[in-house]
Amino acid sequence: MRDRLGRNVDYLRVSVTDRCNLRCIYCMPEEGIPKKDHNEILRNEEILKIIRISAELGIKKVRFTGGEPLVRKGIENIIYETSKIKGIEDIALTTNGTKLYEMADTLKEAGLKRVNISLDSLKKDRYRMITRLGNIDDVFRAIDKSLSIGLEPVKINTVVIKGINDDEIFDFVKLADENPLHIRFIEIMPIGEGAKFKDNYISSDDLISSIPGLTPVETEPGNTARVFKRKGAKGTVGFIAPLSCKFCSSCNRIRLTAAGTIKPCLHSKYEVDIKSFLNDEDKIRAMLEHAILSKPAGHNLEKEISQNQKMMFQIGG
Ligand code: GTP
Ligand code: 5AD
Ligand code: SF4
Repeated sequence: MRDRLGRNVDYLRVSVTDRCNLRCIYCMPEEGIPKKDHNEILRNEEILKIIRISAELGIKKVRFTGGEPLVRKGIENIIYETSKIKGIEDIALTTNGTKLYEMADTLKEAGLKRVNISLDSLKKDRYRMITRLGNIDDVFRAIDKSLSIGLEPVKINTVVIKGINDDEIFDFVKLADENPLHIRFIEIMPIGEGAKFKDNYISSDDLISSIPGLTPVETEPGNTARVFKRKGAKGTVGFIAPLSCKFCSSCNRIRLTAAGTIKPCLHSKYEVDIKSFLNDEDKIRAMLEHAILSKPAGHNLEKEISQNQKMMFQIGG
């Protein structure tokens, strides 16, 4: 379905939980978040109903996010049922990778096509410092496993934080030179815990000019990253600048939160509450259409962040 600006909205991001087994310093408070009641979170059948109606409206690609989507019990069943929905061509997952090794075969069998894995350091102690709870070896074996069973392309999301991991940029670039991995450096957003790192921001433009040998690669419209390849490299290097709104004009996505609201834009305060109407399919359809038609042209982040009480783990990135 097209929005008011003619953008073809065919990508639904589904946050299945706001919980996470890690506590990344720019995302989750150290003490975690208050546990939500079961009835505050959409049930599997409810999520699937919304995906099915979205597919009728032209959604072709579904990405499951969190929090950490793999901490949700039965995620493999949600993926399996989604793979049977007519019109859904691509099912992807954004994960921190710590639980992926054990689950990868099951998820692939269920119909998962590809994974984006968050990894902000290649050093064991630093990874632990950033995630507070993670073991980097779990992520490395998840990456190897994903490549070996063809959960590809495997994209690595790296949030760049000045003074914390910016000395590793070239190590990540080398990783993409030597392996069929697609590294994406993400500008840190001053949302929630991320606001504590306002002074540690490095722009994508600065990074791009510091890395030699980058040749631009064409990407499909709506791609969040500007992607480059280096001569002889097996993988690619991309740059995601969520603050600069470079991809807003071709944005193709809406979001479903775990609490049952539709967000027309990552940064919009406006949400369409769909949870109260789950017994009425016509109403769900009408609300999805309304959300798509309410997609803003872009974001005015300064203003919206100050009003937006939502955290990244609630929105799903
Ligand atoms: P692909 O489907 O592989 O292109 O993945 P993706 O980049 O859409 O998804 P992923 O979950 O890996 O998101 C990576 C980062 O992109 C997130 O941390 C966000 O910073 C950014 N991002 C994703 N969607 C949006 C969006 O709608 N708006 C903005 N501004 N940033 C987004
Ligand atoms: N700024 C930028 N990226 C963030 N993510 C989580 N919080 C922030 C933030 N404040 C990233 C995660 C993950 C992706 C989905 O969102 O690291 O890779
Ligand atoms: Fe969990 Fe991802 Fe947030 Fe880290 S960034 S705490 S892995 S949801």
